[in-house]
Amino acid sequence: MPHTLNHIAILTSGGDAPGMNSALFAVTKTAQLQGIKVSGVRKGFDGLIDNDLVPLEFQTLQHTMHLGGTVLKTARSERFLTIAGRNQAVDTLLKNNIDGLIAIGGDGTFKGIESLSQSCAIPCIGIPGTIDNDIAGTEVTLGFDSAVNTAMQCIDIIRDTAESHSRVFLIEVMGRDSGYIAIYAGLTSAADAILIPESIKDINYLLEKINRYNSEHAFIVVVAEGDEVGVELVAKKISEINSAIDLRVTKLGHLQRGGNPSAADRMLAIRLSVAAVNALIKGERNKMVGLLNNQLRLTPFTQIAKQHKVSQELHTLLTVFSC
Ligand code: F6P
Repeated sequence: MPHTLNHIAILTSGGDAPGMNSALFAVTKTAQLQGIKVSGVRKGFDGLIDNDLVPLEFQTLQHTMHLGGTVLKTARSERFLTIAGRNQAVDTLLKNNIDGLIAIGGDGTFKGIESLSQSCAIPCIGIPGTIDNDIAGTEVTLGFDSAVNTAMQCIDIIRDTAESHSRVFLIEVMGRDSGYIAIYAGLTSAADAILIPESIKDINYLLEKINRYNSEHAFIVVVAEGDEVGVELVAKKISEINSAIDLRVTKLGHLQRGGNPSAADRMLAIRLSVAAVNALIKGERNKMVGLLNNQLRLTPFTQIAKQHKVSQELHTLLTVFSC
C-alpha cells in the first residue's frame, strides 16, 4: 500500500563509513524533489532519544557529499539497547510527526531498528553503511570500496620501504569479524599472505612460506583485525621460526575509515538512497535496501545478519595469489 509521506527522518549509526554523506545528500534531494520534508537525527540513536533533530536541505548537503565521515555524526548508542531509551526515541518520532525513518549503518543499526519497530508503527528502511562489508542482503556496503582503496594505497607505500630494507611487514587492516578488506586490499597490492577470520589454516601456510622467504625482497602479510590469531601473535610465531627475520608491524587502524568516498561508493550511495526513499513511498517497512547481482533488492531486517561467508571464488583467489 503506498504510504503518504510528509516528513522523513534520517540518521547514521555505528562506525562512520565514506559514502554516508553522499547518501544524506541523495536521500534529501530525492525526498525534497517529491515535496517530502527531511530532518537529520544527530549522533545516531542517541539523537533520537534526545530529540536532537535538524532540518536538512539538499542544496547545503550538495557541498559535503564528497566528504568522508558523517556530518550528522554517529554513535554506538548504549541507551538505545534499553526499553526506556527506545520509548524515548518513539516519543521523538511522534512529537516531530515523522512518518518514515531511514537509517544508515551496519547490522547493529538494523537490529536496533528492528527492536524499535516492535513498539512503533513508523516504517523504517535501512541503507547498509560499514567499511567491513559484512552484511547479508547486499554484496557491497557503503564505505567498503573507499576503505579498500585507502588500505591498498597504504600497503603500496609500505612496500617501498619494505623492498628497500628487504623486510617482512605485517600490516593489520580493519574488519572486526570480516576478512573482506584484507582480501581486497591484500590481493590488489600483491601481498605474499593474507590472514582472515574466515580461514583458520592460513597461519600454517604463512609459516611454511616464510621458511622459504627470499631475503632480497619484501614480504608483505596482510592480517585482518578479526583474524583469530591476531597480528601480534603472528609476529611472535614468525620470530620463533627465524629470529633473524627483520620484521615490522603496522596497524592501519582508523586511517581506513576516513577520507573522501570513492566514485563507486558515491554511486552506490545514490542508488541505495533513491531506492530507500522510493521504498518508503511504496509503503515498504522494516527492510534494508541492498545490491544483489547488481540489482537493487529489499531484505527484511529480520533476515539481516553478519555475513561471514567468503565466496568459493575468493577462497580460490587467495589460494592462488597468497597463502
Ligand atoms: O565500523 C567498522 C569498524 O571500523 C571495524 O572494522 C572496527 O573493528 C571497528 O569499527 C572499530 O570501531 P571503533 O571506531 O568504535 O573503535
